[in-house]
Amino acid sequence: MDNFNFYSPTEFVFGRDRENEAGEYVKKYGGSKALVLYGGGSAVRSGLLDRVKASLAKSGIGTAELGGVQPNPRDTLVYKGIELCRAEGVDFILAVGGGSVIDTAKAIAAGVCYDGDFWDFYCGKRVERALPLGVVLTIAAAGSEGSGDSVITKEEGMLKRGTGADVLRSRFSILDPALTQTLPAYQTACGATDIMAHVFERYFTNTREVEITDRLCEAVLITMVKETPRVIADPNNYEARANIMWAGMVAHNGIVGVGRSQDWNSHGIEHELSALYDCAHGAGLAVIMPSWMEYVYKHDVMRFCRMATRVFGCQMNYEDPEATALEGISRFRSFLHSIGMPINFAELGAREEDIPKLVEKFGIGDGKTGGFVSLSAEDITAIYRIAVNAKI
Ligand code: NZQ
Ligand code: ZN
Repeated sequence: MDNFNFYSPTEFVFGRDRENEAGEYVKKYGGSKALVLYGGGSAVRSGLLDRVKASLAKSGIGTAELGGVQPNPRDTLVYKGIELCRAEGVDFILAVGGGSVIDTAKAIAAGVCYDGDFWDFYCGKRVERALPLGVVLTIAAAGSEGSGDSVITKEEGMLKRGTGADVLRSRFSILDPALTQTLPAYQTACGATDIMAHVFERYFTNTREVEITDRLCEAVLITMVKETPRVIADPNNYEARANIMWAGMVAHNGIVGVGRSQDWNSHGIEHELSALYDCAHGAGLAVIMPSWMEYVYKHDVMRFCRMATRVFGCQMNYEDPEATALEGISRFRSFLHSIGMPINFAELGAREEDIPKLVEKFGIGDGKTGGFVSLSAEDITAIYRIAVNAKI
């Protein structure tokens, strides 16, 4: 096991109706005037936004409001949010929504405390200071409620880029599983795919003897395989929603990645798809992740066998371990298909002729990237090509 620091300072407030406590938590963490940030309308339609605002008013918190965050959130709304916070004297940001809203909140939080262009942070500059922020989560997916990361798309050129810093971690995150019951099945499945991908990015490692982390990874993956079909079949299944919501946090606050190298190429390869086609991140991952697995599995066949046997219930074929590894990958892809995810370019709405553009935007030039298997632009091209024709 490698040396590590693990820092996850967020207070998680979990369970039914906990969003009605939002005001108390903003107060607890020093807010007196909050920017209430939300997405395209689901939080308005469900009445959640009104409940949150009532809670803020009850605790004497002043508010400013900004809606309209879109999936694959854009820089343009971040600029608007920074301006609004400055004009209104906002000292706290409350994100009511999913990863896109939370990531926008983080970008605004950093941008308000910075004299330059906030986009600098998405081009490598370190975030040193940020306004405090809190979260009321409405979808189990990105894990941004527990991570220090933020991913924003620059509208000009549709460049999707990320940043990360501990000061961007939410002070508190309210997780009420019942809030996710209004999600369409497709969004639920996209979220589930992203959660599993966050674990796989860390599960495939070259560091040996990190059994505790391996087992935690497997626990999250097995939970997702069991619970996702239950919520697809019955969107109101609170217990299954609850397990998935917590799994989404555990998958991405860092705990399942400590003490070892991690990969993250599938995320990078996917981000170019969601930037170019504006598709859901989870849907892009469903197309990319099994294709990446098929391309790299020979690097460590036994690790893929471990996934196959422990997560997807395959029988180990000791005479032909490669067959077991491939069976595991195939079961993963079939699982994604069974929950309604696209599994190839055509189903996602992506085009084979765009592959050179996707690879160019990925931007590694002659370099290599990835912590499990180091990939060149040629390798990434090959993975996109597998994804074009993937079948179950
Ligand atoms: O905008 P509204 O109307 O709220 O609708 C949203 C949106 O259309 C809808 N939705 C959310 N909660 C709902 C709901 N609809 C009905 N009922 C509810 N309770 O779901 C749609 C997707 O929302 P979004 O916030 O985009 O989803 P997600 O949480 O998957 O976030 C995706 C973004 O996060 C980034 C992705 O790249 C993508 O841009 N990621 C962020 C990470 C991080 N910060 O740590 C890590 C991830 O790997 C990921 O890259
Ligand atoms: Zn992700």
